Amino acid sequence: MSDRLNSLLADFHSRLELCVDSQALESLKAEFLGKKGPLTELLKSLKDLSPEERTRVGQATNDAKTAMEAGLASRRAALDKIALDEKLKSEWFDVTLDAAPSRLGALHPVSRVQYEIEDIFSSLGFSIQDGPHCELDYYNFEALNIPKDHPARDMQDTFYFENGAILRTHTSAVQVRAMEKLKPPFKIIGPGKVFRVERTDPSHEAAFHQLEGMVVAEGITVAHLIHTMKTLLKEIFKRDVKIRLRPGFFPFVEPGFELDISCQICDAKGCSVCKHSGWIELMPCGMVHPNVLKHGGIDTDKFSGFAFGLGLDRLVMMRFKIEDIRHLHSGDLRFSGQFV
Ligand code: PHE
Repeated sequence: MSDRLNSLLADFHSRLELCVDSQALESLKAEFLGKKGPLTELLKSLKDLSPEERTRVGQATNDAKTAMEAGLASRRAALDKIALDEKLKSEWFDVTLDAAPSRLGALHPVSRVQYEIEDIFSSLGFSIQDGPHCELDYYNFEALNIPKDHPARDMQDTFYFENGAILRTHTSAVQVRAMEKLKPPFKIIGPGKVFRVERTDPSHEAAFHQLEGMVVAEGITVAHLIHTMKTLLKEIFKRDVKIRLRPGFFPFVEPGFELDISCQICDAKGCSVCKHSGWIELMPCGMVHPNVLKHGGIDTDKFSGFAFGLGLDRLVMMRFKIEDIRHLHSGDLRFSGQFV
């Protein structure tokens, strides 16, 4: 009987060596220690033995069972360790290595320049006003001295909605909204997007940015306008910038001007951006037309004002030497990534 047990044990141990995973261990366990296994059979046959033999063989069988269980447990522990070692080897990484650089977002160049100009004007005591992109005819045209059928409406090709609302064609609409809200004297700017039906080219986009300015107080003259513009341009370009005023027509200003600055790209020597004239048209402006002030409920005997409309995109293009306005809102990361 003990020979039988010894050979069972030897067989078990050699089979145990061959087990390489827990599934194999389980089936080995079932084979040797299961209900139909050889040990169970042995224990069942104890009843046919003499009492002394029964004790001896029973003991030996139980010892064998214990040995097998111990063998299984230690093999399982060894297999677990191998698996863990392998996992650690494959999942190892060096915590002291530098992290991969993450790409940071950044402000769009138009936002950057806009915020800079907002800061300049805030320091001069201007407040920042806002208005909706989807605007009423009244604010965009009517109250700005551009009645229906006025030929000046053709100057700005307008996107219309079916209900008669429009996409604002200029930030001058903010002038009217500001007058409704504020009592003179006041100084405001109104930056934002404007929209025109345009065939796009390097200097034209259907959606672009303006920054409106308006000052209303007693005794405001063209001298105030020129001084403010010069201060602004000096702050933006960090040096004295030559300006010139040419007459310009806008129904909401009288007199109206086109303000040109000496080309900052070629130092007024002449380049493709200034079309070799040395001058860049930057900012239409003028003295606010009395009809506009009246629409805003302002006493024109007492108050006068000036207004200007800065083309933000053009300014950005000059600042960063961008030759095509369409890059600005292309959404192309190769472009915007250069301004991080
Ligand atoms: N709103 C005008 C335009 O978009 C610009 C302007 C603003 C002119 C203020 C005069 C005064 O063309």
